[in-house]
Amino acid sequence: MSISVDMSDLKMPKHIAIIMDGNGRWAQNRFMPRTVGHRAGVKSVRNVVEYCANKNVEVLTLFAFSSENWRRPAAEVELLMGLFMSSLQREINRLDKRNVCLRFIGDITAFNDKLQQKMLEAELQTQGNSALTLVIAVNYGGRWDLCQATQKVIDKMSIGALEKQEITEQLINDHLSTAGLPEPDLFIRTGGEQRVSNFMLWQLAYTEMYFTSTLWPDFDQSVLEEAVRSFNGRQRRFGHTSEQVLNQAITL
Ligand code: IPE
Ligand code: IPE
Ligand code: MG
Repeated sequence: MSISVDMSDLKMPKHIAIIMDGNGRWAQNRFMPRTVGHRAGVKSVRNVVEYCANKNVEVLTLFAFSSENWRRPAAEVELLMGLFMSSLQREINRLDKRNVCLRFIGDITAFNDKLQQKMLEAELQTQGNSALTLVIAVNYGGRWDLCQATQKVIDKMSIGALEKQEITEQLINDHLSTAGLPEPDLFIRTGGEQRVSNFMLWQLAYTEMYFTSTLWPDFDQSVLEEAVRSFNGRQRRFGHTSEQVLNQAITL
């Protein structure tokens, strides 16, 4: 009798958030320009979206471009923008047919008008879809998110629509770019670095972290499954004791 755990026995995280890292090194290992790695990474995005839609994951967030990535050479930034635009154009109808709802988080005002327009259209086209919410973080930074939430809150206070005492964790949640989404249950970073790089600083407070040395273009469903297995072996305590969780005296 086999004791191996079937994937169907595994509990799926509701929300998986991924830092897709290692494209440049993947290409450099092959003596090719970094940009080749970015192109190769698009296939991994397709695979992980397909997996999550099939396995009833509710939300998948992918970190595509950070607020700090503008510091890269202009040619690389330009290529990333172009790739982003062409992928969006090419994939949107397929995502729509797959019943995927697309949402962008980040300061998109930094992008050219055409790209901003495409992003808004993609959100509108897919807003009624329910198989998976695919959140793409572009020009996103966790610190930016907290700043823009603070600005919104202060705007409301300044017109008397909000009192200081009403500022609660829930209220902050409601003003972050991720408002309405569940917090990530599982965070994955590919490429071997073990840091958060200004990703969802507030939202990751109780997220389970998984780091893999696999470079993003090599990331496939089997690596994702490994991460989900690891997630299943964790005991999430949210401040309680292990005994409390085991006795299910509390609802998590
Ligand atoms: C991640 O891969 C993609 C983006 C940050 C846009 P990198 O380009 O950071 O790849 P490495 O880390 O240099 O290998
Ligand atoms: C984080 O990767 C951002 C994205 C994957 C979009 P980086 O490669 O930019 O992170 P650092 O600079 O190594 O921390
Ligand atoms: Mg990197």
